[in-house]
Amino acid sequence: MKKNIVVLPGDGIGPEIVDGALTILDKTAAKYGHKFYYDMIEVGGCSIDKYGVPITSENMEKCRNADSVLLGAVGGPKWDTVDPLLRPEKALLAIRRELGLFANLRPTRLFTQLGGASPLKDSITSAGIDLVIVRELTGGIYFGEHKTCEVPEKTATDIMTYSEHEIERIGRVAFEAAMKRRKKLTSVDKANVLDTSKLWREIMHRLAAEYPEVEYSDLYVDNAAMQLIRDPGRFDVIVTENMFGDILSDEASMLTGSIGMMPSASLSGGTCGMYEPIHGSAPDIAGKDIANPLGTILSAAMMLKYSFGLDEEAQAIETAVDQVLSDGFRTADIVSDDTIQVGCREMCRRVTEAL
Ligand code: IPM
Ligand code: MG
Repeated sequence: MKKNIVVLPGDGIGPEIVDGALTILDKTAAKYGHKFYYDMIEVGGCSIDKYGVPITSENMEKCRNADSVLLGAVGGPKWDTVDPLLRPEKALLAIRRELGLFANLRPTRLFTQLGGASPLKDSITSAGIDLVIVRELTGGIYFGEHKTCEVPEKTATDIMTYSEHEIERIGRVAFEAAMKRRKKLTSVDKANVLDTSKLWREIMHRLAAEYPEVEYSDLYVDNAAMQLIRDPGRFDVIVTENMFGDILSDEASMLTGSIGMMPSASLSGGTCGMYEPIHGSAPDIAGKDIANPLGTILSAAMMLKYSFGLDEEAQAIETAVDQVLSDGFRTADIVSDDTIQVGCREMCRRVTEAL
């Protein structure tokens, strides 16, 4: 199989973790007889520095034409003061919008070897944590109108909108995901307050009738935030709107031991997707070879599975990660007394070797 992958290393630790993930993709390609071609382009702060915008229209076009997109991370304090319309994060939102990537899958799995790194520690986590957050990614308050008026008093407004079709299509992705897993779906909303949530719930209930095999339930977002800590093992698939999903997925990532462990896939109806770890650019540790590349490596595995249909290859990468953790190797964010600390490069080398 030959595939063209547009690679966006981005800012901060982005280049180091993406570099590492590419060595793993190369090893996978060599082992299974594939060829991956990489087109490296700037996005975020590095694009602002070079071109004055977080992503150029030519580079956006490259993303549109790619078989798939792999992203590191964008942003950093250096660009905190740029025009808000040109912030590094705008590139990310623009790619999501332009490529129609409405479905964001954030699998949250605790590798058993990392129980001690999870703030819940081994006692609670031994029951296992294996859930996936399906976050709506191109609607809601992040894509509504944002404005600030100066008179009569400085007032800011962000508008949250959801239409029926936007809710229905993400709902279907979630029900289908549940059907392939343990057939449990929790829809998270704030239907006791928000109209968008009332509509969300109405449509989810309509879909639930089409999927009688799925054990469906609703949770308010505040309660969901609590249950994720109290009893994470109860969740299989969680579906929720954009902002709630952003917040809950960072919370859930802590259950896996470190935000550095958590991959994501952003999908449209087609096969092209964007794959990225859910963490940010961590400028404080950039260039020090201490970042955790596993979230990016697992994102590359998701790319093989969801965009290219290479399930066996994806599984091989996951198994290699599992092996390296079993061998006791850890980056600084997940290290413990009885394990061996390694840098980003060494971690990637170990995973490549285990493949
Ligand atoms: C994420 C990030 C982004 C988001 C930011 C960088 C715009 O937090 O992917 O979770 O909020 O979607
Ligand atoms: Mg986030």
